[in-house]
Amino acid sequence: MTVVVTGGAGFIGSNFVFHMLDNHPDYRIVCVDKLTYAGNLSTLKDVMDNPNFRFVKADICDRDAVYALFREEKPDIIVNFAAESHVDRSIENPEVFLDTNIKGTAVLMDACREFGIKRYHQVSTDEVYGDLPLDRPDLFFTEETPLHTSSPYSSSKASADLLVQAYHRTYGLPVTISRCSNNYGPYHFPEKLIPLMIANALADKPLPVYGEGLNVRDWLYVEDHCRAIDLIIHNGRVGEVYNVGGHNEMRNIDIVKIICKALGKPESLITYVTDRKGHDMRYAIDPTKIHNELGWLPETKFADGIQKTINWYLENQDWWKEIISGEYQNYYEKMYGGRETVNVG
Ligand code: NAD
Ligand code: TYD
Repeated sequence: MTVVVTGGAGFIGSNFVFHMLDNHPDYRIVCVDKLTYAGNLSTLKDVMDNPNFRFVKADICDRDAVYALFREEKPDIIVNFAAESHVDRSIENPEVFLDTNIKGTAVLMDACREFGIKRYHQVSTDEVYGDLPLDRPDLFFTEETPLHTSSPYSSSKASADLLVQAYHRTYGLPVTISRCSNNYGPYHFPEKLIPLMIANALADKPLPVYGEGLNVRDWLYVEDHCRAIDLIIHNGRVGEVYNVGGHNEMRNIDIVKIICKALGKPESLITYVTDRKGHDMRYAIDPTKIHNELGWLPETKFADGIQKTINWYLENQDWWKEIISGEYQNYYEKMYGGRETVNVG
């Protein structure tokens, strides 16, 4: 079985590459990644010499490169993680999100039609459902919740989901879609909430919390997400959407305080800054379908997962310190240099 994993040099994709090599030692895993600012070849250094692994640097929007790869590898399964994934960047510059997240998805599926495939899996997000109000803790996203997006990022992901469903209905492409909540764990790019707060706290730098920090996210340890995708590509029903999430809702401010406590840093580092434009209030997944159909349940409790994550960032400082330089420095200055400090409460 040959599995092409796009975006495998990023956060979740790399964890999925490791998961597949560990759990399916007879599979060939081909990672396709453009190595944007978010892709890091050093993440894959431990598997580069694995005979069952191949890395190909390519843009999923590049039709010739994608078709050449399909011709050569004749993959059985495609798992598409490749995306521009950061909401804040999408607010600054939407265009590349439309290219990679929508057009890139179409190119991959066209290649699947051209060369034949057993399964095309689209890694989507709960953000396609928009947000839920804070005062309705009884509401959750199900697979039937209408798509109702807020940011250019989530709109591009929702557009891709619609295209995937259209390719299934129109061309009979054997597709599945997973819509997962916020992931955390090793190799998370240090501009996202949890790794950013760990890195800043370790450097005794301000911890920039947007708005009042009351927004709620439903956090899932990355390995649990990888297991869910593994189950869906093997046992999920073609044409179906599966929500993935662990009923682990946390307010941003509480996460930041947990990180301060774990690192022995004072909460006085917390700085409230101008809120994100269009900031979604609450995400919360109902994972009943994937549990009932595929027996999936999250295995890592947040208290354990966050400690494991913090330990990983402590033990792998070279990995993220190398990233927190160059282009990232410019990004940080642009995004946070202009953000006003806000007094809350
Ligand atoms: P990431 O930004 O860490 O990684 C994205 C990877 O895609 C990078 O390696 C990048 O180089 C690569 N890439 C970008 N554009 C490309 C292109 N045109 N061609 C080839 N490769 C390209 O993202 P992530 O957090 O690992 O997210 C992976 C997927 O999971 C995304 O599709 C995202 O929408 C989805 N997702 C993420 C989360 C989360 O919490 N991070 C939650 C649910 C769903
Ligand atoms: P993020 O990691 O960007 O994920 P997403 O927007 O996809 O959920 O942000 C998680 C939450 O943390 C979100 O509500 C925005 C907030 N946040 C901050 O408060 N400060 C920050 O510096 C960042 C990056 C995010």
